[in-house]
Amino acid sequence: MNITFLEKDRVFKIDTENTSYVMGIVDGEGFLGHLYYGDKLDDTDASYLLKTIEPQYTPSTNMRDRSSFLDRFPFEYSSNNVGDYRKSSIEITDSNGHTGLLLCYESHNIFNGKKALEGLPATFGTEKDSMTLEITLADKVAGIKAVLSYSIFEGLDAIVRSVKLENVSSDTVYLDKVMSATVDMDQDGFKLLTLHGSWARERMMDFREIGYGDTSIESFRGESSHQFQPFMALVQNGDSQDTGKVYSVSFVYSGNFEAGVCKSQFGSLRAYMGIGAKNFRWKLKSGETFQAPEVVMTYSGCGLGKMTRTLHDLYRTHLIRSKYKDLERPVLINNWEATYFDFDSDKLLAIARQAKECGIEMLVMDDGWFGERNDDNSSLGDWFVNENKLKGGLKKLVDGVNDIGLKFGIWMEPEMISPKSKLFDEHPDWAIQISGRVPCRSRNQLVLDLTRKEVRDYIYDRIKDILNSANIEYVKWDMNRQLSDLGSLGLDKESQGELSHRYMLAVYELQERLVTDFPNLLLENCSGGGARFDAGMLYYSPQIWCSDDTDAIERLKIQEGTSLIFPLSTMGAHVSDCPNHTVGRTTPFKTRGDVALAGTFGYELDVTKIPEADRKDIPRQVGLYHKYNHLVRGGDYYRIASYQRNHEYDAYMVVSKDKKEALITYVQVVASPNGMRKLLRVPGLDADISYRIEGSDVRVLGSTLEKAGIVINPKGGDYQSELIHLIAE
Ligand code: DGJ
Repeated sequence: MNITFLEKDRVFKIDTENTSYVMGIVDGEGFLGHLYYGDKLDDTDASYLLKTIEPQYTPSTNMRDRSSFLDRFPFEYSSNNVGDYRKSSIEITDSNGHTGLLLCYESHNIFNGKKALEGLPATFGTEKDSMTLEITLADKVAGIKAVLSYSIFEGLDAIVRSVKLENVSSDTVYLDKVMSATVDMDQDGFKLLTLHGSWARERMMDFREIGYGDTSIESFRGESSHQFQPFMALVQNGDSQDTGKVYSVSFVYSGNFEAGVCKSQFGSLRAYMGIGAKNFRWKLKSGETFQAPEVVMTYSGCGLGKMTRTLHDLYRTHLIRSKYKDLERPVLINNWEATYFDFDSDKLLAIARQAKECGIEMLVMDDGWFGERNDDNSSLGDWFVNENKLKGGLKKLVDGVNDIGLKFGIWMEPEMISPKSKLFDEHPDWAIQISGRVPCRSRNQLVLDLTRKEVRDYIYDRIKDILNSANIEYVKWDMNRQLSDLGSLGLDKESQGELSHRYMLAVYELQERLVTDFPNLLLENCSGGGARFDAGMLYYSPQIWCSDDTDAIERLKIQEGTSLIFPLSTMGAHVSDCPNHTVGRTTPFKTRGDVALAGTFGYELDVTKIPEADRKDIPRQVGLYHKYNHLVRGGDYYRIASYQRNHEYDAYMVVSKDKKEALITYVQVVASPNGMRKLLRVPGLDADISYRIEGSDVRVLGSTLEKAGIVINPKGGDYQSELIHLIAE
């Protein structure tokens, strides 16, 4: 990895292991142009790509048609209302009500290491394994400075970018829109890949044509959302895992966002990602700064598989901080689908006893243990134990569970308030709401105005008291509704547009306090299933609940989309009872276990009530979790086949970094009549190593498995799964 500045040609070149990213400064006014991003360039000079020698591209000598230049020039960070009519990277309103802005090069700085982003989650690196380039742009008329930051990491084909704005004028300026990154490029046969979804249907893959104008995704729901993942990729060869160019952009942020590609009149593209402009307006007083969240960009010249493995490695080594990242997580049993709100300590202890016999290691008590919460209509905010349910209190229950030999974890939803709660009776103004309007309820709850310090402090004290009251080793932090009625009594009227971002900063502050005060706590984020499964949350918790849909077949699709960008070690995945609570489908217990093994693994059922045969199978499944977890946590992921697209079967694989071991998961979703064996091509192995297929005498060279494939025989019936363990001889 290296970052250089060629003084003579005024060109910046960022080199990762296999990619180059090049920018150049135009003489004269100092426009910063994006010149190239792609396969690594040997050449150091790409300044000819600035095209400033062509007549329409000479801004200072061709004042007559200056907009011909501005509207075509590949701006690294584009401006607004001065002649570039394409989508802008930034929009402001100055103290005179004007929106014109043109940011030009002022200075730069290259250094080893990477700075933290104040108050925000971000990738991290040391002086030994990372490098950063900061370029300062300025507009003297508006009095705005923008510091564009680019960091790279040893051995990884990723570039992380962010922008910090400073008001150097003497008046207040409003930020109306701040993209964290825009990239100008040529259309090269790309389609846009995004992940869309809904509750219980998160992260479905969608490929779209890029038409003229805007092709985009967004969330204005106060969280990254079920509906769209803050990720997009420009792909040349569709879902090909090993061919075609793939450019991806992901947001290290959990709130509102917009992302997309704009195709200009000339057919060129401008890709963008940042905090959504809708409902956003940030008052930046003289001398103040605004730090926009970080985006991660990757380029792969050989399909989606390389992108996936780059993101997995980046997140595992430079984003997730928890000490559990590299540790085997306890196999947990969660009582949500087992009991919903209908439980007491006797029931939980009975589950714990049976779970212990099966080899399960932790009991997680889900929603319903506090206030008068016997359904989802009340008590959020009243974080006091319901002693009618937990007789003798929380400590007694936790001690009882510990005596049985299990760890104990607890569910909380700290960001919410029920209108039917003691907290709301005392502080009705603590809910986010617009004065004079009845705020829209969802799941009969409102969102706490965490932008107010007194609200944050109150909630944090409650969390802390609960955690200090007993030996609680895990927290599931849930969030079950999205934001609306954006209004805060804690903000002045010019700052109401800051609420959504300030809300996210508040959630981050709370989780930062939590992981600092309780460094041994295993934190799992969750949001009505997987509505806040994003890189921002991974900075605080090493795992996130993937979806409320625990059906093994639906999970194949959800986990495919999730693992496209996130490491398997982060995906909360549990075996649940059948018929499945969400889709009513019945699948074999074995298949449910095999599919959940691709994630953090656990159970979501009443182990005292499931069929005897299933219960007896749990120790075998737990054994498999322990046997394969090092591979799942640390290995390289390869997608082999997609049920989402072939509608018949699914297959994926993890290979250890030293390529000595691999685990293939195959699921035959629907059986075909009169079928024959399949040959699954197996990528990612060492071509020269002979692999033994565990449980058989077959030994095959890695190169043969890649070229000819492994034999999968048809199985009798739908929803059948097979795990294939390859061991280097
Ligand atoms: C949504 C979560 O995804 C579920 O697992 C469960 O914790 C419920 N909330 C509880 O209300």
